[in-house]
Amino acid sequence: MSKVAILGFGVVGSGVAEVLKQNGPHIDEKVHSPVELKYILDVRDFPDSPFAPLIIHDFSIIEQDPEIDIVVETIGGAKIAREFTRRALTAGKSVVTSNKELVAACGYELMELAREHGVSYLYEASVGGGIPIIRPLKQCLAANEITEICGILNGTTNYILTRMIRAGLSFDAALKEAQQNGYAEADPTADVEGHDACRKICILASLAFGIHIYPEQVPTQGIRGVSLADVAYADSCGRKIKLLGRAIRSTDGKIRAYVAPHLVNGEDPLAGVEDVFNAITVRGNAIGDVMFYGRGAGKLPTASAVVADVMDAARNKDRPKYLDWGPGGENVTLSPEDVISPWYVRAESPAEALRSALGEVTVLARAGAPAGEAAVLTGAMTGRELETRLSRISVHAAFRVLED
Ligand code: HSE
Repeated sequence: MSKVAILGFGVVGSGVAEVLKQNGPHIDEKVHSPVELKYILDVRDFPDSPFAPLIIHDFSIIEQDPEIDIVVETIGGAKIAREFTRRALTAGKSVVTSNKELVAACGYELMELAREHGVSYLYEASVGGGIPIIRPLKQCLAANEITEICGILNGTTNYILTRMIRAGLSFDAALKEAQQNGYAEADPTADVEGHDACRKICILASLAFGIHIYPEQVPTQGIRGVSLADVAYADSCGRKIKLLGRAIRSTDGKIRAYVAPHLVNGEDPLAGVEDVFNAITVRGNAIGDVMFYGRGAGKLPTASAVVADVMDAARNKDRPKYLDWGPGGENVTLSPEDVISPWYVRAESPAEALRSALGEVTVLARAGAPAGEAAVLTGAMTGRELETRLSRISVHAAFRVLED
């Protein structure tokens, strides 16, 4: 018998409670032992919820209850969630989380603590919502040397971009829809500014390369700078704009990781990833490219991954799972500015001025472009070189083009 406590009864926490209840018999059968939800911790009361009798407000009840062996942390953030996770692990309870902010910031520390106390710290739901990616990366692809991870890692921004591209919706209208569907973070700034995708690429890179990559080491640009004009120019050359998280390992073992909008060729499988779906491509030296695809956000897809971790922890009480990585450091990453790629540039400038600054370019056109605006695709160059070449030009947008 395993008894579970959920910390945080928000979108994901309530989804976990629902899945545990609805699929109870099926879960017990697969675990070969009952898995019972005993407490839900939240600062609020939920008098109308069927789970109202389980709601408590004091974490120490969970911490001190020897019956609780699995704690689900769906509070979010890296303060209270970190404190409660540390206390739960120290009390000998396995912790399962969907909290990418905490795993990205403190994963190494919490994994070490879990090891010290002989319990598991599992976080499958922290990246890609319901997509299985953490275990495949750590276990199924273990024979490979991973050289690159590239993916659409945020459902909210992919939803917004899809609605802008397909329906010509404004950014704000599309964001509102994403929030209504329960995809966005409590504060959608984390989605829109790319921080959520940054945390996820940190987790994937740490796992794939075995060293903790911290969010501060990953330059991050969100989608606020993407306009309907950029969407139209991208469409004119058969491309779609996607927010990508990338982590590239160079031959000297250093990691270049970043998050930024890219123009993706319409033929690339990433271009067909729409709405809330996420996709992650992993490049390994034996397997080549392998892609993971599915619902990257939302209550039940995320709860599906959390509950699978709960089941894993319940099945393996005496054999904790270590999906961990080593410590990070200042010298493990290099600036992604050195990554070479073609670029899309839109500027307040005659096309000829862009040509003379950037060398050979493809000039793009769109209906309704104001006089004085030009957009081009450049040849391959580093971010530093692009910046130097554009120093005298009034640039509206500059995004990398993902090479085919
Ligand atoms: N806000 C996140 C997203 C939720 O939109 O992808 C899933 O991590």
